[in-house]
Amino acid sequence: MKDLQIDGAKTNNEILLNWIRTIAFLCKPDRVYICDGSQREYDELCDQMVESGTFIRLNEEKRPNSFLARSDPRDVARVESRTFVCPINKSDAGPTNNWVHPAEMKEKLKILFDGSMRGRTMYVIPFSMGPLGSPIAHIGVEITDSPYVVVNMRIMTRMGKPALDVLGEQGTFVRCLHSVGAPLEPGQKDVPWPCNPENTYISHFPEERTIYSFGSGYGGNALLGKKCFALRIASVMARDEGWMAEHMLILGVEDLDGKKTYVAAAFPSACGKTNFAMLVPPKGFEGWKISTVGDDICWLKPASDGSLRAINPEAGFFGVAPGTNMNSNPNAMLTLNKNCIFTNVALTDDGDVWWEGMSDQPPAHLIDWKGQDWTPDAGRPAAHPNARFTAPIAQCPTFDPEWDNPKGVPIKAFIFGGRMSRDVPLVFQAFDWSHGVYLAATMGSEATAAAEEALPPMRRDPMAMLPFCGYNMADYWIHWLHMGRQLPDPPRIFRVNWFRKDQEGKFLWPGFAENMRVLKWIIDRVRGRGYGVESPIGYMPRHEDIHWEGLDFDPETFYEIMSVDRQESVKEARSHEELFDKFYDRLPTEFINHRELFKSRLWRSPEIWELARDFF
Ligand code: GTP
Ligand code: SPV
Ligand code: MN
Repeated sequence: MKDLQIDGAKTNNEILLNWIRTIAFLCKPDRVYICDGSQREYDELCDQMVESGTFIRLNEEKRPNSFLARSDPRDVARVESRTFVCPINKSDAGPTNNWVHPAEMKEKLKILFDGSMRGRTMYVIPFSMGPLGSPIAHIGVEITDSPYVVVNMRIMTRMGKPALDVLGEQGTFVRCLHSVGAPLEPGQKDVPWPCNPENTYISHFPEERTIYSFGSGYGGNALLGKKCFALRIASVMARDEGWMAEHMLILGVEDLDGKKTYVAAAFPSACGKTNFAMLVPPKGFEGWKISTVGDDICWLKPASDGSLRAINPEAGFFGVAPGTNMNSNPNAMLTLNKNCIFTNVALTDDGDVWWEGMSDQPPAHLIDWKGQDWTPDAGRPAAHPNARFTAPIAQCPTFDPEWDNPKGVPIKAFIFGGRMSRDVPLVFQAFDWSHGVYLAATMGSEATAAAEEALPPMRRDPMAMLPFCGYNMADYWIHWLHMGRQLPDPPRIFRVNWFRKDQEGKFLWPGFAENMRVLKWIIDRVRGRGYGVESPIGYMPRHEDIHWEGLDFDPETFYEIMSVDRQESVKEARSHEELFDKFYDRLPTEFINHRELFKSRLWRSPEIWELARDFF
């Protein structure tokens, strides 16, 4: 066989070169190109996509160097039903993952990938998840036939030559293979968003640290550094190596005394991580500062000084656009001023972007996310509910320079929050680490648009990791319990819920900036000065324990969103049993103990309830 011509950046890493040759031989692209990550390369690819119709260049004055892409309407979100975790033993994938034997899955994939890049360029994207050379970071290489993926990966990761330099001649990497699954016959005209929805497979081989994704070009299905690597594969690496890979934002809180405390928070997809990560302290919090380290993924490793250090493995935001505006998230809006990619938002007549919730009054005319004329009376949204922006984190006004610190930042608290219109209080603190792990594991959330499936009204989403844990969820809980035992002073664990509603379905808590009040109580607790009372579900603030300056929020409504019904709690405990039954053979015994303790606390004498202002 004639040696393959490889254009672009150079590498002497034989493992990588062999993998490139093998994949090129299988996928049969017209051309192979290793990305160097330069601005010039990025600009050329964007120009090329404008030419081909994949990208629309936005108004240079309003949105410099920014683009709009419209996906195929059949390819708009992660597809959980087509996502597979394929260890050799089914029980290692666990009851919450789709499993196919790796040999069988590879047979299927080999047929699909055979010739799948015909007529296209095969791009090789070397990238670092995390600061270059950081002991917490890892290198991946994505091979893709999508230039859209290349330019998104350049924003989302540290990509190109610097990553190749870290990889060196001997280094290993996570293999990420992606194809949109739409080969072109000679002379066949391409479509703006090639994809293959009938044959979509997002498959993971955790034992080989390998990802094969076929058929989708959208978000987490295609930007393989994100959910596939940084969560599904990394969670397995983390278990094996003694660290953690979590679906969490990371933020810093600077107190009035100038001391900074870092916290990480896990909310399920489309439940407010981006918003919380960029929170603007409201009136009454003058002098407090929030800084943003990450909005989606957090890797944590114990350091030799006993602290738990976190990095954001990503370099950009892939955020939900609808609902983002100058009130709900001004920092996100300011991040989006330039150098961004927008996917499935609407186009204004002057070449700018718009989405539901960006302004009170929609423009009189738009081109919607499907490319059709749209007016406010159209009776359908102009932007897809899972429309997203891709933006460099360094453009965020609250960007924390520690984001690029290879040592990471010390995490003092974990916050877990689902979207629950009832039953779950605004905030409470776990009694200790293992109770906190139990609370996180039993977290529930109501449906959102980030995943495509029609979801039941509430699903259990342990640690917000249900679609992202690359191994048996019960083993993952055991790993969490184990990590707590390794740490001399483990982070404190909290549950929050911004989404309580009244009888009419209106949110009872103003949320957004006002979440600062809850965050302050959390920081106070962590710093050993916040008051909280003991309730059957954990430590809780009373109305007087929250800083209310600048907001009129009466005790009555406060206790309404803090309340938990005793009968509902009994049902809740039973439903934990249902969740645990699925993991019968691997369930940590601590969880059985916590459930029994929870049940027994529910029947405690009234005095404890009086202490907690009669919550029940
Ligand atoms: P992924 O990127 O999908 O992982 O999710 P994310 O958690 O980053 O989602 P994002 O922050 O984009 O969530 C957006 C949704 O959360 C929108 O519907 C917002 O209106 C809503 N949201 C965010 N914060 C609040 C809040 O404090 N209160 C209420 N009621 N809604 C909120
Ligand atoms: C999520 O769904 O949690 C996301 C978006 O962050 S995606 O990267 O598409 O998975
Ligand atoms: Mn996410």
